[in-house]
Amino acid sequence: MNILILHGVNLNMFGRRDPSRYGKATLPEINSRLADLARELGVTVSFFQTNHEGEMVERIHAVTEENIQGVVINAGAWTHYSYAIMDALAIVRAPVVEVHMSNVHAREAFRHKSVLAPVCAGSIAGFRVESYLLGLRAVCGLIEGISMNV
Ligand code: DQA
Repeated sequence: MNILILHGVNLNMFGRRDPSRYGKATLPEINSRLADLARELGVTVSFFQTNHEGEMVERIHAVTEENIQGVVINAGAWTHYSYAIMDALAIVRAPVVEVHMSNVHAREAFRHKSVLAPVCAGSIAGFRVESYLLGLRAVCGLIEGISMNV
Protein backbone atom coordinates (compact mmCIF):
# COMPACT_ATOMS: atom_id res chain seq x y z
CA MET A 1 0.00 0.00 0.00
CA ASN A 2 1.48 3.37 -1.04
CA ILE A 3 0.35 6.51 0.76
CA LEU A 4 1.26 10.05 -0.28
CA ILE A 5 1.58 12.71 2.42
CA LEU A 6 1.09 16.25 1.11
CA HIS A 7 2.15 19.35 3.03
CA GLY A 8 1.02 22.74 1.75
CA VAL A 9 1.96 26.34 2.06
CA ASN A 10 4.12 27.50 5.03
CA LEU A 11 4.29 24.00 6.53
CA ASN A 12 8.04 23.77 5.89
CA MET A 13 8.21 26.31 8.75
CA PHE A 14 6.83 23.96 11.41
CA GLY A 15 9.17 24.00 14.40
CA ARG A 16 9.88 27.69 13.89
CA ARG A 17 6.28 28.82 13.40
CA ASP A 18 4.10 29.64 16.43
CA PRO A 19 5.16 26.63 18.56
CA SER A 20 2.41 27.41 21.11
CA ARG A 21 -0.07 26.43 18.40
CA TYR A 22 1.79 23.94 16.25
CA GLY A 23 4.31 22.44 18.68
CA LYS A 24 8.06 22.26 18.19
CA ALA A 25 8.33 19.39 15.73
CA THR A 26 9.91 20.32 12.39
CA LEU A 27 8.57 18.99 9.10
CA PRO A 28 11.42 16.43 8.76
CA GLU A 29 10.62 15.25 12.31
CA ILE A 30 6.92 14.91 11.45
CA ASN A 31 7.82 12.95 8.31
CA SER A 32 10.12 10.72 10.32
CA ARG A 33 7.30 9.94 12.81
CA LEU A 34 5.06 9.11 9.84
CA ALA A 35 7.75 6.87 8.31
CA ASP A 36 8.08 5.00 11.66
CA LEU A 37 4.32 4.47 11.83
CA ALA A 38 4.21 3.41 8.17
CA ARG A 39 6.82 0.71 8.92
CA GLU A 40 4.71 -0.45 11.85
CA LEU A 41 1.59 -0.60 9.64
CA GLY A 42 3.46 -2.25 6.78
CA VAL A 43 2.77 0.51 4.27
CA THR A 44 4.98 2.79 2.19
CA VAL A 45 4.81 6.58 2.55
CA SER A 46 6.17 9.32 0.34
CA PHE A 47 6.22 13.03 1.10
CA PHE A 48 5.79 16.28 -0.80
CA GLN A 49 5.80 19.89 0.40
CA THR A 50 5.48 23.05 -1.64
CA ASN A 51 4.65 26.70 -1.13
CA HIS A 52 3.41 26.99 -4.74
CA GLU A 53 -0.24 26.22 -5.41
CA GLY A 54 0.33 25.16 -9.05
CA GLU A 55 3.05 22.72 -7.98
CA MET A 56 0.66 21.19 -5.46
CA VAL A 57 -2.04 20.89 -8.14
CA GLU A 58 0.43 19.16 -10.48
CA ARG A 59 1.60 16.79 -7.74
CA ILE A 60 -2.05 15.86 -7.11
CA HIS A 61 -2.64 15.30 -10.86
CA ALA A 62 0.32 12.89 -10.91
CA VAL A 63 -1.41 10.72 -8.29
CA THR A 64 -3.90 9.63 -10.97
CA GLU A 65 -1.02 8.02 -12.93
CA GLU A 66 0.78 6.50 -9.94
CA ASN A 67 0.32 3.42 -7.82
CA ILE A 68 -0.97 5.41 -4.81
CA GLN A 69 -3.84 4.04 -2.77
CA GLY A 70 -4.37 6.93 -0.35
CA VAL A 71 -3.50 10.55 0.35
CA VAL A 72 -3.11 12.51 3.60
CA ILE A 73 -3.08 16.27 3.09
CA ASN A 74 -2.44 19.27 5.28
CA ALA A 75 -2.98 22.07 2.79
CA GLY A 76 -2.25 24.85 5.32
CA ALA A 77 -4.07 28.09 4.49
CA TRP A 78 -5.06 26.74 1.02
CA THR A 79 -7.56 24.59 2.93
CA HIS A 80 -9.74 27.63 3.42
CA TYR A 81 -9.87 29.07 -0.10
CA SER A 82 -8.20 26.98 -2.81
CA TYR A 83 -10.85 25.75 -5.21
CA ALA A 84 -7.97 24.77 -7.51
CA ILE A 85 -6.68 22.25 -4.97
CA MET A 86 -10.21 21.09 -4.24
CA ASP A 87 -10.82 20.48 -7.96
CA ALA A 88 -7.51 18.60 -8.27
CA LEU A 89 -8.32 16.38 -5.26
CA ALA A 90 -11.75 15.67 -6.75
CA ILE A 91 -10.01 13.97 -9.70
CA VAL A 92 -8.17 11.55 -7.40
CA ARG A 93 -9.97 8.24 -6.96
CA ALA A 94 -7.97 7.17 -3.88
CA PRO A 95 -9.34 8.29 -0.50
CA VAL A 96 -8.00 11.60 0.81
CA VAL A 97 -7.82 12.47 4.52
CA GLU A 98 -7.46 16.12 5.55
CA VAL A 99 -5.34 16.87 8.63
CA HIS A 100 -4.42 19.95 10.64
CA MET A 101 -1.98 20.35 13.51
CA SER A 102 -4.10 23.01 15.22
CA ASN A 103 -7.79 22.95 16.11
CA VAL A 104 -8.94 25.13 13.21
CA HIS A 105 -12.47 25.28 14.68
CA ALA A 106 -11.20 27.05 17.80
CA ARG A 107 -9.41 29.72 15.76
CA GLU A 108 -10.41 32.64 13.51
CA ALA A 109 -13.71 32.28 11.62
CA PHE A 110 -12.01 32.01 8.21
CA ARG A 111 -10.32 28.78 9.39
CA HIS A 112 -13.63 27.14 10.28
CA LYS A 113 -14.39 26.48 6.62
CA SER A 114 -12.49 23.91 4.58
CA VAL A 115 -13.21 24.08 0.85
CA LEU A 116 -11.39 20.73 0.58
CA ALA A 117 -13.67 18.90 3.03
CA PRO A 118 -16.36 17.98 0.44
CA VAL A 119 -13.82 15.96 -1.58
CA CYS A 120 -12.08 14.37 1.45
CA ALA A 121 -13.14 11.20 3.22
CA GLY A 122 -12.82 12.98 6.57
CA SER A 123 -10.69 15.37 8.57
CA ILE A 124 -8.63 15.37 11.75
CA ALA A 125 -7.59 18.59 13.51
CA GLY A 126 -6.09 19.76 16.76
CA PHE A 127 -3.74 16.98 17.82
CA ARG A 128 -0.49 18.47 16.52
CA VAL A 129 1.79 15.72 15.13
CA GLU A 130 -0.75 13.14 16.26
CA SER A 131 -3.20 14.55 13.66
CA TYR A 132 -0.87 13.32 10.91
CA LEU A 133 -0.42 9.91 12.58
CA LEU A 134 -4.19 9.53 13.03
CA GLY A 135 -4.62 10.62 9.40
CA LEU A 136 -2.26 7.89 8.21
CA ARG A 137 -4.06 5.28 10.33
CA ALA A 138 -7.43 6.54 9.05
CA VAL A 139 -6.52 6.37 5.37
CA CYS A 140 -5.00 2.88 5.76
CA GLY A 141 -8.14 1.71 7.61
CA LEU A 142 -10.34 3.13 4.86
CA ILE A 143 -8.35 1.45 2.08
CA GLU A 144 -8.45 -1.87 3.92
CA GLY A 145 -12.21 -1.49 4.42
CA ILE A 146 -12.72 -0.65 0.73
CA SER A 147 -10.64 -3.69 -0.33
CA MET A 148 -12.69 -5.93 1.98
CA ASN A 149 -15.91 -4.31 0.75
CA VAL A 150 -16.95 -3.17 4.27
C1 DQA B 1 -2.99 24.43 9.56
C2 DQA B 1 -4.20 25.33 9.88
C3 DQA B 1 -4.37 26.39 8.81
O1 DQA B 1 -5.48 27.23 9.14
C4 DQA B 1 -3.14 27.26 8.72
O2 DQA B 1 -3.27 28.20 7.69
C5 DQA B 1 -1.89 26.45 8.56
C6 DQA B 1 -1.73 25.25 9.37
C7 DQA B 1 -2.74 23.42 10.69
O3 DQA B 1 -2.01 22.44 10.43
O4 DQA B 1 -3.20 23.61 11.81
O5 DQA B 1 -0.99 26.82 7.82
O6 DQA B 1 -3.29 23.70 8.38
